[in-house]
Amino acid sequence: MQHIEQYQKPFLQYLESFTVNKQPQNLYKPINYILQLGGKRLRPILTLMTAEVFGGSAKNAMDAALSIEVFHNFSLVHDDIMDDAPLRRGEETVHEKWNINTAILSGDAMLIMAYQLFENYDAITFQALAKLFSKTALEVCEGQQYDIDFETRDDVTISEYLKMIEFKTAVLVGAAMKMGAIVAKASDNDQDAIYEFGRLLGIAFQLQDDYLDAFGNPETFGKQVGGDILENKKTYLYLKTLELGTEGDTLNLKAAINNKEFSNDEKVETVKQLFLKSKAAEATQLAVKDYTQQAFTVLETLNIAEDRKQSLRLFGEQLMNRRV
Ligand code: IPE
Ligand code: IPE
Ligand code: MG
Ligand code: MG
Ligand code: MG
Repeated sequence: MQHIEQYQKPFLQYLESFTVNKQPQNLYKPINYILQLGGKRLRPILTLMTAEVFGGSAKNAMDAALSIEVFHNFSLVHDDIMDDAPLRRGEETVHEKWNINTAILSGDAMLIMAYQLFENYDAITFQALAKLFSKTALEVCEGQQYDIDFETRDDVTISEYLKMIEFKTAVLVGAAMKMGAIVAKASDNDQDAIYEFGRLLGIAFQLQDDYLDAFGNPETFGKQVGGDILENKKTYLYLKTLELGTEGDTLNLKAAINNKEFSNDEKVETVKQLFLKSKAAEATQLAVKDYTQQAFTVLETLNIAEDRKQSLRLFGEQLMNRRV
């Protein structure tokens, strides 16, 4: 078992060897662009780590890890169209740099490539990976549709929100880890437990993503700060403001959201102040901690050595405290 950072380098090398120099350029250039744009590479690192946690080799898990990262990047290309996002990892989004049609088709091709990477495994492993992938990818689509549907609804509940983020984000983190376990031929029980650990960590991760979308540092965050507020996203921050704020806070929040006179900056600033005043910002940070803690409780049920649990705990703590 190696340190978290030690998985990054071999993965990045493998990713580089995946660069496609084929025609037509307008299909493959955006793919290479988004894949080389950086990013934290959390999901593939989790796949590699998990393979080793269960006694397999990171090398053997490399194609599964790459598949997860290619799928994740595909989902970002399409997500940025849906969220009308100008920035990704501090650079122009694919649909801004090229155009929407290019981003749609390059994204489609990436989804297929992600699937294709499973062909490098034996038939039994292929089937297990493909089955998990198909289920997960459909759930991500469901989560993304809920996210969009919620933009125009004003009666979204916290439990609906939690379901939405479980699907759009957390199941992929769970699947990334389960794929590592599948490649390592871990028992069904261990596969399920590590999926659950990843799913809970994934919920914490998306809660923190919501928090950073409003309160992240624009210099380093890499995405448009306040993007969720401008898109009327029903984030945890928003829903908790309605729950915890005074009647006045609720009225002010709804007025700010609907105020056509406001500039983008005015809207973002006003809503952020309400997130803070109502203590919704604090509640979001507490929820991040709580889901991380729940993940750690699941970790205890795993039949693996203490130093491996410690590595996974460290990963969870780093995610909880992340600023990008
Ligand atoms: C962004 O994921 C999309 C979410 C699910 C919040 P990451 O924050 O992992 O994005 P990169 O890959 O590091 O850029
Ligand atoms: C992204 O959720 C989930 C998927 C891409 C499937 P967000 O829309 O919150 O992600 P960011 O903030 O754009 O990275
Ligand atoms: Mg988005
Ligand atoms: Mg989105
Ligand atoms: Mg976000």
